Amino acid sequence: MTTANKKLSSARLTQPTNAFVEEFTASVQFDQRMYQQDIQGSVAHATMLTKVGVLTEDERDQIIAGLEKIRIEIENDEFEWSIAQEDVHMNIEARLIALIGEVGKKLHTGRSRNDQVATDVRLYLREMISPIRSELKRLQIALLDVAEREAATILPGFTHLQTAQPVTFGHHMMAWYEMLVRDAERLDDCEKRVNSLPLGAAALAGTTFPIDREMTAELLGFDRICLNSLDAVSDRDFAIEFTSFASLLMMHLSRFSEELVIWSSAQFDFVDLGDAFCTGSSIMPQKKNPDVPELIRGKTSRVYGNMFNLFTLMKNQPLAYNKDNQEDKEPLFDTIDTLLGSLRVYADMMGAITVKEDAMRNAALRGYATATDLADYLVRKNVAFRDAHEVVGLSVAYGIKHNKDLAELSLAELQQFSDQISEDVFDVLTLEGSIAARNHLGGTAPEQVKKAIRYARSQHQK
Ligand code: ARG
Repeated sequence: MTTANKKLSSARLTQPTNAFVEEFTASVQFDQRMYQQDIQGSVAHATMLTKVGVLTEDERDQIIAGLEKIRIEIENDEFEWSIAQEDVHMNIEARLIALIGEVGKKLHTGRSRNDQVATDVRLYLREMISPIRSELKRLQIALLDVAEREAATILPGFTHLQTAQPVTFGHHMMAWYEMLVRDAERLDDCEKRVNSLPLGAAALAGTTFPIDREMTAELLGFDRICLNSLDAVSDRDFAIEFTSFASLLMMHLSRFSEELVIWSSAQFDFVDLGDAFCTGSSIMPQKKNPDVPELIRGKTSRVYGNMFNLFTLMKNQPLAYNKDNQEDKEPLFDTIDTLLGSLRVYADMMGAITVKEDAMRNAALRGYATATDLADYLVRKNVAFRDAHEVVGLSVAYGIKHNKDLAELSLAELQQFSDQISEDVFDVLTLEGSIAARNHLGGTAPEQVKKAIRYARSQHQK
């Protein structure tokens, strides 16, 4: 048996592990994706051990050179991953010993896989936060671009999915944008707690070697250090926080998706998603299905599942490390992959969306969307709001009976319901009049939408 194949873990155990147990308890199948971080952590650890006099400079250099070689082997697909070595940590360590001999056996001084794995997961997640942040930003910019283009385009605004009042499409896009601003803030906040160093906690109690954790933290770019060794090896809050952030963000994408599915249907026909983001049906030739938004809606449940998975994983664990923790990786990795893919496809899709102005306008005209404007108009003419509400209710009922929108009624028809109505009423009954009148911070007037976009862009330039 070569050193590479010899199991590193224990001389205490006299019987070999049952073959299926070996496979069952292994994590190398999914934790090998952290090989970079594992090597990075080991290089920092060896460097620190040298500074405090536990390793000589020559030993450190041999270890680092060996680790670099392993990195290249892995990248060139020449590394032989072995289930017998259980996980990414022991695979790399066994290979190091095979490559550089006795010196390789010194690397694990003053650490344990417990603090090693906690460090690797944090490094990996930190690394992945950065593309997630860029994709999120790309989606935000795509929304700002659509909002800018459609700042004055009229869309019926809904409550209860019934036409309520006209809004601008740009305003609607800026509502989505606002949700993503909060998501970005949550990600920044989560990153602070991800970026804390567990290494040095060793198995659970710390180590008898004179380690310098500040130095390790600095070498690895951690700006905090986990201050209690028991907590350091067992804490997975950061992973739960990340999946919670991801769940909220996916919930937002899922809501957007629901609207896109509705809007792109033949019944609404407000938007065209672009052929590149839809698929046909294998049997119905006329179909163009909004698969991407539907799939995002579906993937949202998967991310929620991952979040619940981690919450449940942690709730019964006594301090400190337990093997249960090995189960943290797949839900976390799956969340990262799903989120990254969803953001990417969403940013691309929003870049290709076409808005159907006429259809939206017609829909807004059909729904008595300016009824509130008429009530407000009467209030300005000194009619009490409740009375105004009734006048408008009667006018709408009349309109429905005669198949006319409010703006299509004649002055005489409107005056049947209130003598306070005069010619200037038509200024407020048009869709344009209605949106232009909501001209205050947070309102739907095109001028306000443009202001909101300018402010948003200035925040991105910071
Ligand atoms: N593969 C393990 C994990 O992912 C590494 C830590 C193992 N530690 C132990 N005491 N068995 O959690």
